[in-house]
Amino acid sequence: MQLLPIASGKGGVGKSLLAANLAVALGQGGRSVVCADLDLGASNLHLMLGVPRVKRGVGTFVKGFEGSIRDLVIPTAYDRVSLLPGDAEVPGLANLKARQKRKLLTALKTLDCDYLILDLGAGSGLNVVDFFLQAARGLLVAAPLLTSALGAYLFLKNALFRLLSQLVGKKSEACEYMKGLEKEGRDPRRFDLPSLCKKIKSLDKKAYDAYREKAERFRPRLVLNLLENEKDAAYGERVRRSALEYLDLPLEHVGVIYRDPLQDTALNSRIPIIVYKPDAVLSRAVYRIAEKIYDQPEPADNEGLLPVDADAGFESAAEEARADFKAKLRSIEELMYSGALSEGDLLDIIRQEHMELSNLKKENQLLKNKLSRAVREGFDL
Ligand SMILES: Nc1ncnc2c1ncn2[C@@H]1O[C@H](COP(=O)(O)OP(=O)(O)O)[C@@H](O)[C@H]1O
Ligand SMILES: [Mg+2]
Repeated sequence: MQLLPIASGKGGVGKSLLAANLAVALGQGGRSVVCADLDLGASNLHLMLGVPRVKRGVGTFVKGFEGSIRDLVIPTAYDRVSLLPGDAEVPGLANLKARQKRKLLTALKTLDCDYLILDLGAGSGLNVVDFFLQAARGLLVAAPLLTSALGAYLFLKNALFRLLSQLVGKKSEACEYMKGLEKEGRDPRRFDLPSLCKKIKSLDKKAYDAYREKAERFRPRLVLNLLENEKDAAYGERVRRSALEYLDLPLEHVGVIYRDPLQDTALNSRIPIIVYKPDAVLSRAVYRIAEKIYDQPEPADNEGLLPVDADAGFESAAEEARADFKAKLRSIEELMYSGALSEGDLLDIIRQEHMELSNLKKENQLLKNKLSRAVREGFDL
């Protein structure tokens, strides 16, 4: 079974859309696919696959489901494609306890299919990164926006940092070094990765060598989605260039996808676009990506980069959001000083953040209305 995790530094860039349509494309090609919705708290993969309502799913499973995870996998209308729903009963995946994560990962790996697609939540939280690292060549989706490109870069940096920190021996000098930095309030992520690696190399050669071996195998595949014009493709190059330059990580670019107005109609009719309109620009892009996935099978001994029972790492879940935020500011700083960010870019960032804030406000209002209506009408959500 091949694991295909799909992640992104920022949300709303088309992970679920890609997960669903890729699943159908691979199914049409004769492969059996399970599509798992791991965006807990914001699950919508079922809608993309034309399943209007789901009762049980990953949330049920992690909350102490007695049966097998197989019992929660449901068929879809599409050949050879089944769905493991998320369900919104549990908060985000970032809040999964280590024990729950271990249980879920172990169970997922027992599913019987050719491809297991993991539709992950947005961001670089520890759990999301850990799921992504279960495969050497997950898909990373970004949109042609500076914040999204930045998010993708940060995601990769966090992933590499996670690999490194997991490999340094507990109580080793290298571990003490990293902890020391943390204690001093100097988050080890603050260091650029190459110099942190150099330091670790001098302190713990074994951990460093193991890291190199994993980093060599780590070849995430970038998908740039929601392009408006040709110029937008430059964002993909930007992510690749920063990954190579600052993280020493060559990224593979598996495809660009233009924004396709037909997707809205497809979504409203609850039919994946590659079924609704196989000739649409978006559908053709998905088929191209599916073909690349066929052509680049994982090696037989592909066992992922992180053990299922990797311990919690340096930061507790509660600190993650803060760290993400700090990391974001910092990398903006980094980019500014390296001359990679212009003033125009900064204005761009501010504009985007404003847009997102107002979207969040709208969503919030919507939820409030829904809630007060539900209270009035006696909780029939
Ligand atoms: N290439 C595209 N063209 C048009 N709409 C798109 C495209 N990619 C994504 N969308 C739309 O953007 C929204 C966000 O996509 P989604 O897959 O839910 O993002 P994510 O899972 O990353 O949060 C959805 O409404 C989806 O239909
Ligand atoms: Mg999604």
